[in-house]
Amino acid sequence: MAEITRKIGLSLGADLCWPACYEAIMRQLDLRIPLGGDTLRFEVERVMIEPFDLRQPCSYDLVIDRLTHWYNTSREWIKKAVIMNGLYVFNNPWTVQSMEKHTAYCAMMQLGMPVPDTWMFPPKAYATKNPDLQPTLQRYAKLFDIGRLGPRLGYPAFVKPYDGGGWRSVRKVDDEASLREAYEDSGAEVMHVQAGIVPYDGFVRSIGFGPQVLHVSYDPDAPLHDRYCQRHDGSIAAADLEVLRKITLTINSFFGWELNSCESLRRDGVWHPMDFANACPDSQVTSLHRHFPWLVKAYVRWSVYCAATKRPMRQNPDWAPYYAIARSDRSYEDKLDAYAAIADERLETARFEAFCAEHLTELDAVAHEFFGSTEARDAIRQKVAALFPAHEIEEFTELFWQRIQAWRREGD
Ligand SMILES: Nc1ncnc2c1ncn2[C@@H]1O[C@H](COP(=O)(O)OP(=O)(O)OP(=O)(O)O)[C@@H](O)[C@H]1O
Ligand SMILES: [Mg+2]
Repeated sequence: MAEITRKIGLSLGADLCWPACYEAIMRQLDLRIPLGGDTLRFEVERVMIEPFDLRQPCSYDLVIDRLTHWYNTSREWIKKAVIMNGLYVFNNPWTVQSMEKHTAYCAMMQLGMPVPDTWMFPPKAYATKNPDLQPTLQRYAKLFDIGRLGPRLGYPAFVKPYDGGGWRSVRKVDDEASLREAYEDSGAEVMHVQAGIVPYDGFVRSIGFGPQVLHVSYDPDAPLHDRYCQRHDGSIAAADLEVLRKITLTINSFFGWELNSCESLRRDGVWHPMDFANACPDSQVTSLHRHFPWLVKAYVRWSVYCAATKRPMRQNPDWAPYYAIARSDRSYEDKLDAYAAIADERLETARFEAFCAEHLTELDAVAHEFFGSTEARDAIRQKVAALFPAHEIEEFTELFWQRIQAWRREGD
């Protein structure tokens, strides 16, 4: 009977809190998972940034990546390691690189989801020095009147970058004048204008991690640290949460994003997914507060499951089965069921749950104890200290700490 070590790499940028908590919980779990006649052990290491030989081996079995969407050297190291060394990574770097908000809107519209009506328009200005720009525009760019899109979509509408994230350049426009102003101010960004789902009576951000999904009511008008609400206010029934689970897992499995979040707005009983290309979703205690421990546990469960089972990473999206369902004459509800069934199969939901029930039975208790420790408080403090002015560090560390203590009393 041999001990086999599975090595998990953390490819990190500004993240401080979840990696510290993840590492501590993995240490305390001290897993020994029987496999065949052997015992699996787990080692966690932070991936360093350094020159690399394209032919060099890779010591990791799995990498949790938080850099691909903006740090090219790490992304290209990961792509090399997937292609040449059989590395398993979430998220798939090719789909992150090539599919932004715009593609995600198109794809889910095609699957029949009630994504709000959206137009793309060419940019107001150009950053490129490409000498072909002027002849291209002179020959082919049609003059257009941005003001005409307003009445087609209705007001209020939202003007936002086609590849947006972090509320960059998002503007609510209430009339033609503000739509024109948003266009004038948009610079070299390629933008969408999108029909507003206003008013809405439910706003939920669903975080999907493998087959695990957490739904949190979201208040976009609150300060950053209070946008994730403490609890659902009771207005969101279990049946609605199930619809949101299916929407989230459909999106995530379609793109091969194992970690992603989906924002949906409810109007007249219908959930409209509106922002769901977030393949490196916010994982910070400073925004997630009482929901943070759930996410850390989700990181542990899905990474251990994938590393232990050596399930093959899905390299190609394979959209045909979704499109076959989309073309059928089923109702939207039935299609959503069928998409979600593909997601459950691709994400191995049943096998994952059985694995957790057998091998990760200690996780809840270990996490519960850890999140009451000074080590956990230090991890929170580090993140707060990185984001808040000096005079607010103690106050906000205490606030997030108390919310996590509330989670310890009340559960996920
Ligand atoms: N169609 C819409 N209807 C109603 N509200 C909208 C719509 N589009 C955007 N918003 C509002 O604007 C906010 C930012 O838009 P969106 O989520 O698309 O941008 P983002 O930059 O991807 O945000 P983030 O990455 O922080 O989630 C939303 O959280 C929501 O409050
Ligand atoms: Mg958003």
